[in-house]
Amino acid sequence: MPNVRDYPVVDVLIRPMTPADVPEAERLSDEAFAPLAEPGMSIERDATDQQRWRERAAHLLDTDPGGCWVADDGGRMAGFATSFRRDLTWFLATYAVRPELQGGGLGKALLEAALTHSRGCLRGMLSASKDPRAFRRYRLAGFTLHPQMYLTGTVDRSALPVVEHVREGNESDVDLLDSLDRRCRDAAHGPDHRILLAQNRLLVVDRPTGSAYAYVAPNGTPAVVCGSTRKAATAVLWEAVASAPEGPLTVPHVTAANEWAVDVGLAAGLSVGTAGYLAVRGMKPPAPYLHHGALL
Ligand SMILES: CC(C)(COP(=O)(O)OP(=O)(O)OC[C@H]1O[C@@H](n2cnc3c(N)ncnc32)[C@H](O)[C@@H]1OP(=O)(O)O)[C@@H](O)C(=O)NCCC(=O)NCCS
Repeated sequence: MPNVRDYPVVDVLIRPMTPADVPEAERLSDEAFAPLAEPGMSIERDATDQQRWRERAAHLLDTDPGGCWVADDGGRMAGFATSFRRDLTWFLATYAVRPELQGGGLGKALLEAALTHSRGCLRGMLSASKDPRAFRRYRLAGFTLHPQMYLTGTVDRSALPVVEHVREGNESDVDLLDSLDRRCRDAAHGPDHRILLAQNRLLVVDRPTGSAYAYVAPNGTPAVVCGSTRKAATAVLWEAVASAPEGPLTVPHVTAANEWAVDVGLAAGLSVGTAGYLAVRGMKPPAPYLHHGALL
């Protein structure tokens, strides 16, 4: 195993990612993130998670080839970063360096390459791990890091309220979803709704008094929640919580700007922890909004 202090970073080529790189990037990412799991919460991916990861990466390579970069060490991947632009916001989807090479400067070079794709963007947003090396990179790139909470446990079914007016959504709702996205985070998900719809269940409430949507992963995890009002966002989150499969549930990516979601979790009998940061540049943490880890 190379010693990171002797590692000749200058010999590593930072080059655009290609579709052929996706499977190796997925494996590298799993290896790099595994040590960052919270106690008792495995983040190891099963075959379905791996497939979903690869689909998202292939989607971003398709929409934003200029935002996706690889550190290539003579044909072996040493690290990668995938990023994309929606409206005038740059998003970092994911970013990792092979564990034995971390701390040697490859991450700096990769983030600089990905940030070339942010030129002309007024805002930036990414979900940061708790890795202090990542924190350092993002702060030095001008991001403000807001701690993220998560709510976890077994739902107290006796606490579930009656939720009205929430319905299943589909591709015909995309214009509404884009409007809500712009209202909450100044940028529509645009083409990302295609993959979000393919990978998740969509819940929608659309009333004169307020509208909201939630993407819910097959394991019940709310993947995105976005609303015009806290009340509407609360309704779709309650529906997601109520319809989650039996067993432990986690509601991730809750910032302090979203106490309405903390209140839903506490009322449902979940307990709160903290994990990583929402990093933003040129904007405040969106609300009422729970972000996606990669498609934000
Ligand atoms: C985050 C990550 C991609 C950065 O890549 P890297 O090659 O380690 O980054 P670099 O070596 O270029 O930069 C790390 C910085 O942290 C510093 N650092 C190294 N070890 C550190 C530690 N234990 N604590 C704090 N800072 C540390 C380095 O000195 C460097 O700062 P400097 O350039 O100002 O000297 C990589 O560490 C990684 O894959 N981590 C696990 C996955 C992850 O968290 N990805 C980010 C997802 S949001």
